[in-house]
Amino acid sequence: MRSPRLLRPAPARLVAAALLLAALAGGAAAADISGRDGYGRARRLHMRDKVVEMFYHAYDNYMAYAFPHDELKPLTKSFTDSLSELGNLNLEHLPHDYNGSALTLVESLSSLVVLGNLTEFERGVTWLSENLTFDVDARVNLFECNIRLLGGLISAHILAKDYISQRKDGVYQDQLLHLAENLGSRFLPAFETPTGLPYAWINLKYGVIENETTETSTSGCGSLILEMGALSRLTGDSRYEAAAHRALRKLWSMRSSLNLVGSTLDVLSGKWIEYSSGIGAGVDSFYEYLIKAYILFGSDEYWDMFHSAYLAVQKYFRHGPWYHEADIRTGEATHWQLTSLQAFWPGVQTLLGDVAAANLSHREFYNVWQRFGVLPERYLLDYGILHPTEKYYPLRPEFAESTFYLYQATKDPWYLEVGEAIIGSLNYYTKVEGGFASIRDVSTMKQEDHQHSFFLSETCKYLFLLYDDSFLRKQNYIFTTEGHPLPIRSTWHEKIPASDVPSNWTSVKDAEQPIRVSALSSQVCPETIFRQSFGSTWESACHVPDVFPNHKCRADDDCGIESVSCKRRTCSTAGYCGLWLAVL
Ligand SMILES: *[C@@H]1O[C@H](CO)[C@@H](O)[C@H](O)[C@H]1NC(C)=O
Ligand SMILES: *[C@@H]1O[C@H](CO)[C@@H](O)[C@H](O)[C@H]1NC(C)=O
Ligand SMILES: *[C@@H]1O[C@H](CO)[C@@H](O)[C@H](O)[C@H]1NC(C)=O
Ligand SMILES: *[C@@H]1O[C@H](CO)[C@@H](O)[C@H](O)[C@H]1NC(C)=O
Ligand SMILES: *[C@@H]1O[C@H](CO)[C@@H](O)[C@H](O)[C@H]1NC(C)=O
Ligand SMILES: *[C@@H]1O[C@H](CO)[C@@H](O)[C@H](O)[C@H]1NC(C)=O
Repeated sequence: MRSPRLLRPAPARLVAAALLLAALAGGAAAADISGRDGYGRARRLHMRDKVVEMFYHAYDNYMAYAFPHDELKPLTKSFTDSLSELGNLNLEHLPHDYNGSALTLVESLSSLVVLGNLTEFERGVTWLSENLTFDVDARVNLFECNIRLLGGLISAHILAKDYISQRKDGVYQDQLLHLAENLGSRFLPAFETPTGLPYAWINLKYGVIENETTETSTSGCGSLILEMGALSRLTGDSRYEAAAHRALRKLWSMRSSLNLVGSTLDVLSGKWIEYSSGIGAGVDSFYEYLIKAYILFGSDEYWDMFHSAYLAVQKYFRHGPWYHEADIRTGEATHWQLTSLQAFWPGVQTLLGDVAAANLSHREFYNVWQRFGVLPERYLLDYGILHPTEKYYPLRPEFAESTFYLYQATKDPWYLEVGEAIIGSLNYYTKVEGGFASIRDVSTMKQEDHQHSFFLSETCKYLFLLYDDSFLRKQNYIFTTEGHPLPIRSTWHEKIPASDVPSNWTSVKDAEQPIRVSALSSQVCPETIFRQSFGSTWESACHVPDVFPNHKCRADDDCGIESVSCKRRTCSTAGYCGLWLAVL
């Protein structure tokens, strides 16, 4: 381990250190394009070039037919000013006079740097510096605006400092940071509630509108800390980080006695509206931001929240390789469904060092991907069928993202083959003359006239990094939930003294990789995973493993006894052992 000085005492801390190093060493141990791992240099370069081609096909068509509007409509080669529509299912309060914020360009900037196109990056930065304004009468979703626009601008600002100034002195004068600050200041009125929990919607020009809905989601108010924290660190204005931090604390204080959080809540009363919750839509990035905030800022508070939250997820939501939803008050299962957004979880587990568990879930997602050609938005595990209405695949990145993380952690070339399958499907089913089209129904592969900006900020970026991570060798980054890189800096970090951050991390060796522990592979209760990493295994006395691997079963007799609750597990109709009290 690189620097045992960092964090010493408690077991949890040590795993945290391992995790931190896993993140820091991300690019280090690995993936060069030499082909040392048996996959082959030519094949790797070929796949990398395919991804590059995909990115430019999406980008050039956006620039030709949609820019400076928000997103491309690839079938009709037109545009949509979709920022005001994101998260707005009923399309309420749409603006009358809004011509877009060049959303897809903002989202593409960090990918242009990852792909090494500094000329185009600089051109985009210059255009935005002169032309982008947030003084527009448009009601937008705070969460979407934060992860896409604020995150895109902050990340591009940092990259501009690192990449542009080196080439031409004085060309870049912090214009993107000024834009980010301008945008961030427009977020602040949303936080003026008795609870500190922000409204989900804000009018960029006028603030919170009259009679605005007070309902929001957990991810909506719990995934702001990376961008707003970074904004505070960059500007010296602590208001952004303080607002996001206060909201996160309040949210965590609302957790149930099982340490679970609900999925929707009221920002005025600070009470849950929806008690059924899982790791997918409405909650997902809340978990992701706790661990990533810990990695970025090093505060124990984030680690403590994440640690408790992670254990509760593994205890109440996990079912073999799958994650279902449960009532946060009782832990009883509510929905037994796979959602495409859940595919980010193996990536988070990989950051944590829980690689075997990540690998197992990832493989199950891949089975579903193979069955349909892409991941359907929602799949009913119990019945093995698609959800009746949510059959779409909007070019989502989460599965590619987890594949990238798992490859970084394991260097197993199998993940590069998974990448090939993803790239093959995207080109076969979604590529059209005018860009990449979402899939409306995975059973017919009927297309939809929409190329989401995250296809450029995330899907293409993670696929590129899978085959060429040279970007990560210069500096260590964490990626926001929208795929925008933020550097891990000692000056932002409570625990890393500057002297402990080497200027190059390629010296971190494979042998120094973090301890890998898994709640799943060892089939012991999740509480022990942190103790295990200390060498003293501890297992619940009542624990009886299931008969077959991966918790598969034909009848109740094939199931063992749950180590956490000491209850007998039963065989679900989907053929998995679990504590099924499911209401279906
Ligand atoms: C949007 O575009 C229309 C048509 O070009 C123009 O009339 C209008 O002034 C623009 N609105 C804003 C806010 O820029
Ligand atoms: C950078 O992007 C622009 C726009 O797509 C393209 O014309 C140019 O060839 C790219 N440059 C490199 C080096 O890939
Ligand atoms: C700003 O936008 C206008 C209109 O699209 C364009 O003519 C001008 O060149 C832009 N500025 C930069 C620096 O690209
Ligand atoms: C807000 O709600 C109040 C009470 O229901 C109503 O009288 C008022 O007209 C509403 N305002 C707007 C702008 O909808
Ligand atoms: C992932 O799972 C597969 C199948 O169970 C196994 O063969 C492989 O070794 C695993 N890889 C890791 C890194 O755990
Ligand atoms: C990184 O630093 C190590 C130790 O100082 C050195 O051995 C190694 O050559 C360096 N790697 C690069 C790519 O500069």
